[in-house]
Amino acid sequence: MIDKNDLRQEPIERASTIPSDWYINPDVEKIEQQAIFSREWQLVCHQSQIPSPGDSMCATIAGNPILIIRTPENEVRAFYNVCRHRGGPMAVKKGTTTVLQCQYHGWTYLTDGSLRGVPQFDRVELFDKKDFGLIPVAVGQWQGLVFVCLADEPRPFEQVMDGISERISPADFSDMQFHERVVYPVECNWKVYVDNYLEGYHIPIVHPELAKLLDYRNYVTETAQWYSLQYSPFADKDGDNPYHAENGEAFYYFIYPNFMLNILPGRLQTNIVEPVSAGRCRVIFDYFYSDPEQARASGTVADDMAYSDKVQQEDIEICELVQRGLGSKAYDKGRFSVERELGVYHFQSLIKHSISS
Ligand code: FES
Ligand SMILES: [Fe+2]
Repeated sequence: MIDKNDLRQEPIERASTIPSDWYINPDVEKIEQQAIFSREWQLVCHQSQIPSPGDSMCATIAGNPILIIRTPENEVRAFYNVCRHRGGPMAVKKGTTTVLQCQYHGWTYLTDGSLRGVPQFDRVELFDKKDFGLIPVAVGQWQGLVFVCLADEPRPFEQVMDGISERISPADFSDMQFHERVVYPVECNWKVYVDNYLEGYHIPIVHPELAKLLDYRNYVTETAQWYSLQYSPFADKDGDNPYHAENGEAFYYFIYPNFMLNILPGRLQTNIVEPVSAGRCRVIFDYFYSDPEQARASGTVADDMAYSDKVQQEDIEICELVQRGLGSKAYDKGRFSVERELGVYHFQSLIKHSISS
């Protein structure tokens, strides 16, 4: 299913794109869940979504139900949202509690994961509550964003995000407030969407209006070990571009494997590209503002959302057509523009690395 030759790393000048089978084969999607999504850090929420002790959120990572909770000690912890009795969930949606109660038979756990209450269990033998605590999951935080990692030995989270804070300073998202989530179902493999995000090569054709606002010749892509950065100066700062950057720069970060951080002065948008099946994904847009009230009142929120939505619809349309192309008999592998597709090459090199190791 995975040909060893396709895992070979070549310089971009000579490299081929990953084979089309990796975009359509359900077995490859299963391999990726293990090799990528069960190993890498995944965004679950922003701290503003669980501001008070006892606030909790649910997430699903590589098919695993996860619970994120702020403890009475004000620490953010995460556990598999799976009761040690017979697998029931502690929570099914966002909530507030300092005692986690299973929604099936009512076992209770403290926010440190320890099992506390076990109703009607008196005559059970060889049972020690200490052996039945919730299974913890590693938590990493970066400027208020909360990530989890299911790996037994997660890669140090600081290593993944290394250099981003310095680069975007003085922007800092710790005090941002979550505003809204928009979810787009897309009929393509998650990697088609990520590939597309990672290059500006398609902008003149797929987004002609956006192209007019950008100084496309000076579009830059930089890569680090676990992320890449794209930015482009704006052609006309006085135009009606809601993304104009008169007060600072705009940064478009991709953090491996499926997380995007779109940073503009006073606002932050995160994207998560979640695989659903080999041929489908969900793209989750979360909007954050340093002052959501003010941003709403001034029309910034409406402008941002309308603008993003337009570009997103154009991207979805092309990604869905590309998925069909990749599934056709005509296509196996392509090549990279050295000038314009460094980000895609970097992402695909990491995919190969994950699958090989
Ligand atoms: S499964 Fe949780 S109490 Fe039974
Ligand atoms: Fe695009």
